[in-house]
Amino acid sequence: MRTKIVAGNWKMNLDVAASKKLAMDISDDIQNLKTNNTRIIIAPTAINLYPVFHQPNMDSRIEIAAQNMHQAKNGAFTGEISAEMICSVGITNIILGHSERRTYFNETDAGLAEKVTTALENNMNVIFCFGEVLADRKNEKHFKVVESQLENALFHLKDNDWKHLVLAYEPVWAIGTGETATPEQAQEMHAFIRKVIAKKFGENVAQQVSILYGGSVNPGNAKEIFAKPDVDGGLIGGAALDSVNFVALIKAIQ
Ligand code: PGA
Repeated sequence: MRTKIVAGNWKMNLDVAASKKLAMDISDDIQNLKTNNTRIIIAPTAINLYPVFHQPNMDSRIEIAAQNMHQAKNGAFTGEISAEMICSVGITNIILGHSERRTYFNETDAGLAEKVTTALENNMNVIFCFGEVLADRKNEKHFKVVESQLENALFHLKDNDWKHLVLAYEPVWAIGTGETATPEQAQEMHAFIRKVIAKKFGENVAQQVSILYGGSVNPGNAKEIFAKPDVDGGLIGGAALDSVNFVALIKAIQ
């Protein structure tokens, strides 16, 4: 059975006190919740990773992820953080390739391929994001675009690496817009993604990898999306900033 995942991407929101509080609120709210086979991940901004992670009494089911890192080991890259630095505070999950990184910080598939390699060399688990923009979908290029994003950023990997990878399909037109892909659109793309992975890495790898959907997931639409056979959870932005909503999403996948 594939692992289910509910991951909250906090983006550039919440100061240290608010980050710690949100994490503890989630922790409190899941105390009586059974979460079999479900990973719960939250991704505070870099400066809050350490204080959130090292709170005493936080539910041990809550994992922390960083939102970005540089591909180099170290060096003159002002403002960046390395895989080693993230790991040194005890955090081994990393989100890579988010569309906001691609759009506002010019991240490319080629650069992301390097970041994925560096993350895996440091024994990190990667949540790799990708997805088409609205024009691609309108021009019916969405399958081609997604296939090339996967090819360019992930096809250099070995079969064994996939144990440490989670995919997050996030159609850019659905991120932060309130517009969600329909459950059918999500399922159609997730099944396609699995086919692309199977063609290169074999059916086993394709069936094992968790594929998350992201883009305006909220407590009102999550159950239907998560019910689709190839959707293994969600990467959530806006709705992850509120503990009641986030816990509702965790419940929606049980
Ligand atoms: P959203 O963000 O849920 O606010 O649309 C999703 C994401 O960017 O991961």
